[in-house]
Amino acid sequence: MAYSATLIPGDGIGPEVIDAAVKVIEATGVVFDWDRQEAGMGAFEDGGDPLPQATIDSIDRTRLAFKGPLTTPVGTGFRSINVRIRQHFDLYANIRPCETLPNTHGPFEGVDLMLYRENTEGLYAGIEYFDKKNQIADSIARATRGGCERIIRFAFEDAQRRGRKRLTLVHKANILKETGGMFLSIGKEIASDFPDIAFDDRIVDNMAMQLVIHPQDFDSIVTTNLFGDILSDLMSGLVGGLGVTGSANIGADCAVFEAVHGSAPDIAGQGIANPTAVIRSGEMMLKHLGEDAAAEAVRLALHDVYSDPSKLTGDLGGTATTAAFGDAVAERVRAHVAA
Ligand code: NAI
Ligand code: MG
Repeated sequence: MAYSATLIPGDGIGPEVIDAAVKVIEATGVVFDWDRQEAGMGAFEDGGDPLPQATIDSIDRTRLAFKGPLTTPVGTGFRSINVRIRQHFDLYANIRPCETLPNTHGPFEGVDLMLYRENTEGLYAGIEYFDKKNQIADSIARATRGGCERIIRFAFEDAQRRGRKRLTLVHKANILKETGGMFLSIGKEIASDFPDIAFDDRIVDNMAMQLVIHPQDFDSIVTTNLFGDILSDLMSGLVGGLGVTGSANIGADCAVFEAVHGSAPDIAGQGIANPTAVIRSGEMMLKHLGEDAAAEAVRLALHDVYSDPSKLTGDLGGTATTAAFGDAVAERVRAHVAA
């Protein structure tokens, strides 16, 4: 049996890291029938539409996508395609694990965090106005009871499945009394349904400080869209940078897997980007499909390759190219599958 999946190589380093990751995923022996589609700046330049209808139709059919990063113009231009995809397919839960791999020389050892980010509401809801005459700009944060409930419940249930012991809700309810206040009070309500998971909360600025001083003190985190976006990049920095952290966007009947990082225009086209982040997203996709043995083979293969610093890419002090790193991981995947 083959899994039908939409494959979006994306912009910048996207095609390079996606190529390497697809080789690793295919090395597990799990078969994918990839429907290759365009989106992002490349699609915009080619056909005038950064999110072509054919791409939406493909995900509508497969309900599963593996994608590279997409460039979003800063300050002006089209709205983020990533945000549009998450909203269109109602992918309300963004999971961003953050684990120390060997030889990454991050500032800490033994970091093992899970971040659950609300993925469709908050300041990313797209409710923006500009009053040209009076030069007043508004970006409105929209939170709904249903939206808060489903991400918080998802976080508790997923944390429970992973055998996690604690969930920290991160907010700014001291200032944002309405949106933050509702998120926090719903968190406290739902916590009583999960007595086996310790529940607490932190104000986001304090959380940022605590994460960079003693990240090992935390376990799982649930937060709103903007705070999750910022804290997940911060957390990537705790374990070696954006090259190593994968993510999953999950909805009721559709899922999209991608790295935490963006299109990295500063290193695009050089074949030096680290494909670990998209490989980890692929590992999450395999797990999501119930292909636990294949996901475990990818995890073990990454640990094997990371045990030899010379096999790593430049962001981690090694000299390997994107393709060579991917090939090394794929080879170890085949060894684990055969064992
Ligand atoms: P970025 O994540 O692309 O890059 C930030 C820094 O991390 C750069 O120095 C880059 O070289 C480095 N980096 C990122 N991924 C790496 C990898 N795999 N290996 C080695 N180094 C890596 O963030 P930036 O520069 O703020 O955004 C660039 C573009 O990406 C923007 O248009 C932004 O909107 C878009 N973006 C897209 C995302 C997505 O498609 N999900 C997520 C984040 C940003
Ligand atoms: Mg981000």
